[in-house]
Amino acid sequence: MNLDPAGITLNGGKGLAKQLYLALRQRILATPDTYRIKLPTSRNLALALQVSRNTVVRAYDQLYAEGIINSRVGDGTYADGLAAAVPKPDARISAAPVMQQSSMLQRLRGYDTRRRMSDGPARAFRLGIPAYDLFPNEIWGRLHSQFWRHAPLAQMGYGDAAGSVRLRELIAAYLRQARGLVCAPSQIMITAGALHGIALCAQLLLDAGDKVAIENPCYPSAAAALTVAGAQLVGIALDQDGMDTAQLAQHADCRMAYVTPSHQYPVGVTLSLARRLELLAWAERHNTWIIEDDYDGEYRYDGTPLAPLAALDHSGRVLYVGTFSKIAFPGLRLGYLVLPPKLMPALIALRAMGDRHLPAADQAVMAEFIAAGHFQRHIRRMRRASRARRDALMDAWAPLFGQQLPLPKVAAGLHLSLPLASAGQETELVAKALAVGVEINPLSHFCLPGQNLNPLHRAGLALGFAGVDEASIRRALLSLQQAWL
Ligand SMILES: Cc1ncc(COP(=O)(O)O)c(C=O)c1O
Repeated sequence: MNLDPAGITLNGGKGLAKQLYLALRQRILATPDTYRIKLPTSRNLALALQVSRNTVVRAYDQLYAEGIINSRVGDGTYADGLAAAVPKPDARISAAPVMQQSSMLQRLRGYDTRRRMSDGPARAFRLGIPAYDLFPNEIWGRLHSQFWRHAPLAQMGYGDAAGSVRLRELIAAYLRQARGLVCAPSQIMITAGALHGIALCAQLLLDAGDKVAIENPCYPSAAAALTVAGAQLVGIALDQDGMDTAQLAQHADCRMAYVTPSHQYPVGVTLSLARRLELLAWAERHNTWIIEDDYDGEYRYDGTPLAPLAALDHSGRVLYVGTFSKIAFPGLRLGYLVLPPKLMPALIALRAMGDRHLPAADQAVMAEFIAAGHFQRHIRRMRRASRARRDALMDAWAPLFGQQLPLPKVAAGLHLSLPLASAGQETELVAKALAVGVEINPLSHFCLPGQNLNPLHRAGLALGFAGVDEASIRRALLSLQQAWL
């Protein structure tokens, strides 16, 4: 069959040979019997397309070089270079081939990772962001240039899959001092944030179909990471003391539990000490892992923080997840895992097969940031700022909406939630807020359908208060006043 130049259009100007080469290659690849295609002589094709012969020769040369066409002595040029790679007619299936679906592809179907409201600059009352407008960019930039000025050849090759030893030593010291969590640097792995740590734990420890107990409502990205790793989620309701361990006790067949004990996301309660001990006892009884997501543990405004589960764990079941996202900024993508020593070799092997480790410069700069005392200073500044922003929200909210929509006490974290009477009220308030540029999340979006749920958490509002300054908070509340009242 002769290749018909009709339909090949070139745009004139520069790069004609490249355009022609691409057009011919596409035509050849789209033709079922490639090995039968005979190409016109360069002279005839140049005439047909009204281009110079040189242009055609250059396009043909490229097709020769890639093995797509060959010349048969005395017979002309054929696109038979692909013959070996293309199935023969009798081996071909006549119907359109069905794309093979891996179970991962199937589990990922329907997930939309673009978050609905979190794009662009921070706005009141976006969830999950700290006061990153206060981040000391200058210090950070100076530490980065210091790192590069000293030409750290030793850090420019492949590094330790667990992460920088210096950073892990500093994190171990910080956790001991700030959380009462005693661990060795060899139990720490540096991750690209908390969610990466959660996903690594799921990949390491779950088989498809394993049950995982999770707070309901819950952090949707963690729920997604666990589900995509094959987990079957078992929602456990919450009350004012956190996850209802009596309900949890009815589930003996879970492989893992995922919890946010220091400040539940998104409801905002703290897991009581009694519940912490019950959760650990449950895990021991049923030989279960616990992921403890301590994403915003630095933010405690009143009372003494409770010991993390990892500090109370005597049987090596707690996988502690920490992050710099809420103290520095989420775009940094820096966090850490603290695991029982017995899991570290497998975790390190898993990491070495994937991204290997985070960029050496970011790890070294964070280590220097901590070692030079900037981190501790910044934590204090962030805690002060978040407390002031919380107060601004509470103070300005009370006279406007306090009667109909009283806010709860907020002793920790960067967000709060309040219950509403109905789903209809939730939809209306959220839509009206969005219409005046105020981001408020509906609590129902964090709920797992068809699972145990405290009726108080069926509908409500979740507000982040730390992302913008006090003046912006007050302005947003005035907008809400117009929208809601
Ligand atoms: C409960 C919880 N865990 C983890 C994260 C994610 O943290 P990172 O940015 O470190 O992945 C968030 C973010 O909002 C969160 O709310």
